[in-house]
Amino acid sequence: METQRPPTTSVPARPRPARGGHQDLFFSASSAAGLPDLVRGEGIHVWDRAGRRYVDVAAGAFLATLGHGNARVLAALAEQGRTLSFACTRNARHDANLALAEKLSGLAGPGFERVHLCSSGSEAVETAIQLCRQRAVALGEPERSIVISLEPSYHGSTFATMAYTGDARTHAVYGPMLPPFELIPAPLTYRSPSPAAASDASIAALRDVLERVGAARVLAVLIEPIGGQASGANVPAPAFARELRRICSASGILLVFDEVVTAFRTGRLLAAHRDPAALPDVAVLAKGIGAGYAPLGAVLASARLVDDLADRSGFDLAHSSNAAPLSCAVGAAVLDEVVGRDLMGNAVRTGAILRAGLERIAARSPIVSDVRGDGMLLATELVRDKESALPFGPEVDPALVVRRHAADHGLLLYARRMNSGRFGDWILVTPPLVIDEGEAEELIDRLEEAIADAARELLG
Ligand SMILES: Cc1ncc(COP(=O)(O)O)c(C=O)c1O
Repeated sequence: METQRPPTTSVPARPRPARGGHQDLFFSASSAAGLPDLVRGEGIHVWDRAGRRYVDVAAGAFLATLGHGNARVLAALAEQGRTLSFACTRNARHDANLALAEKLSGLAGPGFERVHLCSSGSEAVETAIQLCRQRAVALGEPERSIVISLEPSYHGSTFATMAYTGDARTHAVYGPMLPPFELIPAPLTYRSPSPAAASDASIAALRDVLERVGAARVLAVLIEPIGGQASGANVPAPAFARELRRICSASGILLVFDEVVTAFRTGRLLAAHRDPAALPDVAVLAKGIGAGYAPLGAVLASARLVDDLADRSGFDLAHSSNAAPLSCAVGAAVLDEVVGRDLMGNAVRTGAILRAGLERIAARSPIVSDVRGDGMLLATELVRDKESALPFGPEVDPALVVRRHAADHGLLLYARRMNSGRFGDWILVTPPLVIDEGEAEELIDRLEEAIADAARELLG
């Protein structure tokens, strides 16, 4: 890909302690400005030191599935801690690993019988690709090393996952240090003549890449089945996954779905199940399955794929905290809560209320245009001009402005601009799945006021 100069920005001076300090001391002053100092949380709400209450609109970062202070999960965590607080997968087995793997593979269904557990989304994506790579080597295909992913996209912050992340700013910094990758345009539906046309353009680009590099050198195609922060909940046309499935199967390329954000939110464990005819070979989970109560990631694959490798070289990878008992106990309790309280059903039901509310805002606001997503993974596009779909451009980050005003209206939003706004700007509405109808209406009312304030500031 084209080499770009790394971005250089001057950071205005701000007060800094001599030692220690919060994590946001590492961020730029503009993205750290005005962060609330949280002291407690309960349900979908968090409170700051001054006693102000906020709705956790993004569930932290698409993660706090059950909201805050869930008694069942905390009890499971304490119980596991009393029973067996740690065991290492390299020299021991334990029940919590077995229980979580059974529950996850049971929910994921056929094609996802094996579960590898780790501690984060980045680690899980990287583990999935390492699994694909070790399998290729074991099967005598060591030339397969290239991973094809979408631009824009987000897959994590390790070196490999930054390679696969479609963000030119990241590549500008780390480009010379990244493993082999190719990017094709994501099938973005907004600003495209139609979802089908967007899908066709992506598939055509994939074919071009396969022809240029040779399909036999491609290890995997990695996509978010529905976009997260990087594309603002972009929902590709169904033909996209089907065509990917067809091309990958025909060329011996593994199809990997990054479901780190989508878990549970579309009314299913995996968004892949929107289309059973286009299931991936490997699915990656994290965030929502630990729900913030413990770091947890998971790689799901078929028994055939994993057993095949285990019968040859075996999958040689183990981080110290893989399948850590405390994380496993949390994951199992989170799944019990999600299933027992029908929170995936609530993602669909209350997600529809949120979506209708966002559409009302879009109809009235001069800066809100497209509303998209599925279930309780929703986003609204922010534009300077609705008629022409004109974005705000590199100088102004409108989501940060909305985030600032939202805090004044008791809403905690997530806003991380990628690609310098080249593909547009949006805010995500991905609250804890325990949100009820009344809370959803309140969220929408407050968001409308916050967006109105932001529009006055942005449009002058
Ligand atoms: C789609 C997607 N994949 C992977 C990751 C990386 O997860 P983590 O931050 O837990 O490493 C994220 C994080 O936002 C994500 O949104």
